[in-house]
Amino acid sequence: MQALLNTLTERLAAARARQAAWPPFAQRLQAHGQRLLDELHHLYGQREDFAEVAERLLAVAYEGWRERSPGLRQLDAQREATPDWFASEQMLGAVCYADLWAGGFKGLQAQIPYFKELGLSYLHLMPPYLCPQPHNDGGYAVSSYRDTQPQLGSMAELRSLATQLRKAGISLVLDFVFNHTSDEHAWAQAARAGDPAYSGYYWMFPDRGEPDAYEQTVREIFPDEHPGAFSQLPDGRWVWTTFHSYQWDLNYSNPEVFTAMAREMLFIANLGVDFLRMDAVAFVWKRKGTPCENLPEAHRLLRAYNALARIAAPSLMFKSEAIVHPDDVVGYISPEECQVSYNPLQMALLWNSLATREVNLLQYALEKRHALPAHTAWVNYVRSHDDIGWTFADEDAALYGIKGFDHRQFLNKFFVNRFEDSFARGEPFQDNPVTGDCRISGTAASLCGLAQGDVHGVARMLLLYGVVLSSGGIPLLYLGDEVGTLNDHGYGKDAHKAADSRWLHRPPRDEARYAQRHDPTSQAGQLHAGLRQLIALRRHLPALAGGCLQAFWTHNPAVLGYQRGPLDDGVLVLGNFSEHPQRVAAPVLSALPARALDLVSGRGLALDQDLTLQPYQQLWLRLAA
Ligand code: GLC
Ligand code: GLC
Repeated sequence: MQALLNTLTERLAAARARQAAWPPFAQRLQAHGQRLLDELHHLYGQREDFAEVAERLLAVAYEGWRERSPGLRQLDAQREATPDWFASEQMLGAVCYADLWAGGFKGLQAQIPYFKELGLSYLHLMPPYLCPQPHNDGGYAVSSYRDTQPQLGSMAELRSLATQLRKAGISLVLDFVFNHTSDEHAWAQAARAGDPAYSGYYWMFPDRGEPDAYEQTVREIFPDEHPGAFSQLPDGRWVWTTFHSYQWDLNYSNPEVFTAMAREMLFIANLGVDFLRMDAVAFVWKRKGTPCENLPEAHRLLRAYNALARIAAPSLMFKSEAIVHPDDVVGYISPEECQVSYNPLQMALLWNSLATREVNLLQYALEKRHALPAHTAWVNYVRSHDDIGWTFADEDAALYGIKGFDHRQFLNKFFVNRFEDSFARGEPFQDNPVTGDCRISGTAASLCGLAQGDVHGVARMLLLYGVVLSSGGIPLLYLGDEVGTLNDHGYGKDAHKAADSRWLHRPPRDEARYAQRHDPTSQAGQLHAGLRQLIALRRHLPALAGGCLQAFWTHNPAVLGYQRGPLDDGVLVLGNFSEHPQRVAAPVLSALPARALDLVSGRGLALDQDLTLQPYQQLWLRLAA
């Protein structure tokens, strides 16, 4: 492969060697080109035209690099020198819909002072790209990666927002929706019209033969909308649509697709995007007779894009969105693949612990499933724009005598308030009577009991965010949560949203709650103050940087425990997941110094006797020798 790399480098250089952009490009090509070609060879090496495929891709990489602004190139050099920059205790992420939360890009720009007040360093905007109307899966059906949805603002405004955010120390995060395009993308339109080149961009079949064969082994993602994984076109052909029928899966076994999407990826990177949220990574490669999820080639494809980014947009990081079995989730995380990843297991188990008042599964996950390779990080979160899926490992649950299937049924009942005394007010998402599968919608506040004014609602929510802020990785705030925004039942009246209960937790900005955020007698005020305090504590605790964590078994089923940093200079976090006071017995604490300072309450505590935690109380203990 080195020989091919040398030949291709020479050929590329022939026309470009005298351009100023060439030397730094050539240097990075030398460093990462081999890796790129290796991965690519695994995917497309059997083709006779492999060398041409590789050559075209390198040309795309060079063009991407040439178009990169001086500011971004400067950032590239900085970030290359500090590969752990995102592991800092100063890192705090947030996510929102530009239109729902701020009225568009200009509105967001006007919110930069608020972001600074919160301490944000990372802002994920839900996909702002041009998409079909009115159905677009909340922007996840992209018709052009180079145009914006007009109601959000122009591409120039998005660029300006990226620049202003960067000046304020905030990274812009956008999606790379690369598993599929919308059926209105120019490629899809050409494919629909019968252009063979573009039909080859998608998985299109003349009849049910192949779809039937594939459907033997793939799961249904949105069964409410269409059964199986394929949709039929008016002309009778079938096209692969893992998600909605207007989201056509791209066919990456065709290298033209890989290259075309590389071009789009670099375009987005060059807007000034620091992290690309790699959407639906599990699904990008298909092979008959398999579930068509998490295939080895999906990893190769990501690693090839990662190598390409190191060459053409070096500061660009990937965030994996794989909401799958925890073993498969970690498979995507490495410096060579996705440097950061959603932590769907922690998210689901936080909610599980609230429902059961038992921390066993969460504690086990922290001990066994939290550690990650160097130079990578979890993105920890309480809620996202998606449903809550119960993706814990059945094997882990079995260790505690919990049956996965039955337990998921319980959790679904609990969170949609069909269980006695449940404090949660969620709704089912994609309730599938055939498989028994179901997921949950609802805002964090409504799922924590704030909707009906439950006395513990605020403390519950602060406890969840407390774990997210202190357990290692990048904490992510769903904007609106900081004032306890409740479910938006209005979605049911909107014909375009009514069929998708995820809109329940995608409410417009709740002005009334934001106006109350400094009022300590309101839920909004209490939450806001509580969260701000935890965020401020985090910023000043270097022990919370990075991802290393040591589980601390409290021997009380309702109390979670873990230690960050060394005993003498770190923090011991304890959290009570029940509505009753809980005790951690003195012998459990015997290895610790006799006294500690709880940073959250500011109180000194004795550890040579039993420790009592109030309902949903969290302690961030600084251990004093
Ligand atoms: C991801 C998104 C989700 C979307 C799906 C299809 O899972 O988070 O909102 O429906 O991908 O793009
Ligand atoms: C994601 C997940 C699925 C989730 C859906 C969108 O990619 O795999 O569990 O529910 O897309 O909500």
